[in-house]
Amino acid sequence: MKLITIQAGILLCLHATLHISSAINTTKAVKQPKLLVFTKIGPYYHESIPFGIAAIEKLGRDNEFLVDATNDSSLFTNNNLKQYSAVVFLSTTGDVLNDQEKNAFVRFIRSDKGFVGIHSAIDTEYGWPWYNKLLGGYFMSHPIQQNATLNVIDRRFIATKHLPKQWKRFDEWYSFQATHWTDVHILITIDEKSYIGGEHGQFHPMSWYHRYDGGRAFYTQLSHREESYADPLFLQHILGGIQYAMFGRTR
Ligand SMILES: *[C@@H]1O[C@H](CO)[C@@H](O)[C@H](O)[C@H]1NC(C)=O
Ligand SMILES: *[C@@H]1O[C@H](CO)[C@@H](O)[C@H](O)[C@H]1NC(C)=O
Ligand SMILES: *[C@@H]1O[C@H](CO)[C@@H](O)[C@H](O)[C@H]1NC(C)=O
Repeated sequence: MKLITIQAGILLCLHATLHISSAINTTKAVKQPKLLVFTKIGPYYHESIPFGIAAIEKLGRDNEFLVDATNDSSLFTNNNLKQYSAVVFLSTTGDVLNDQEKNAFVRFIRSDKGFVGIHSAIDTEYGWPWYNKLLGGYFMSHPIQQNATLNVIDRRFIATKHLPKQWKRFDEWYSFQATHWTDVHILITIDEKSYIGGEHGQFHPMSWYHRYDGGRAFYTQLSHREESYADPLFLQHILGGIQYAMFGRTR
């Protein structure tokens, strides 16, 4: 007890001699982790993107991480990316990174960082095998938007533990190609009989995660529509994916 008092006394003396502004700096020494939300588009613009950015910014405020949003791929440099714990591709489409930017992003993931792909992130960067494996597949087709039933097959993971076993939603449902189902841990599948126009086949994953090339990746197909970003179940789903990507949390 005495020792503690003495140490506190020394600290107080030290503190008193410091200039006010550096004292403020010392108290702010705990840095908040940062997330980059990337929204560059090619052939298709999702009207839901601004709603997604606003929703993720709010998740950040409520859960103590900072959020930067950009559609400027020139920010994909080694130096700039290293300040972030994870990058979200929020409904990106088409070719979004040049070769140099791709290299910086690969290096980022390899340094134990995270990736979250939302909706058409999987309709992005065809012809880049590394990205295909990071995502776990590529978009193939979708029928008209309609109701369908999702089966939440793993409800122990941080992004799905709050979800009902059967989750009925209205959305745009993708079928996939170039899939790597044996390399990813599948969280949610869609009941192929619960909607019309699917081209995927009976076993049809919709959300998954995996460790990949030294980093972490989470993908969810859901949320074509802006309404998703007002749905507490969906918001908790992407928050869990973000927390896995940023911090490796699985529960
Ligand atoms: C706080 O520290 C940073 C770098 O550590 C410095 O750039 C900044 O000027 C400092 N601010 C104040 C108010 O002392
Ligand atoms: C980037 O965002 C700006 C402003 O919202 C928009 O005008 C532009 O079309 C976007 N460009 C890309 C490539 O996403
Ligand atoms: C989708 O399901 C909801 C809830 O059951 C229902 O209110 C809505 O009318 C359905 N929409 C369509 C287009 O079938």
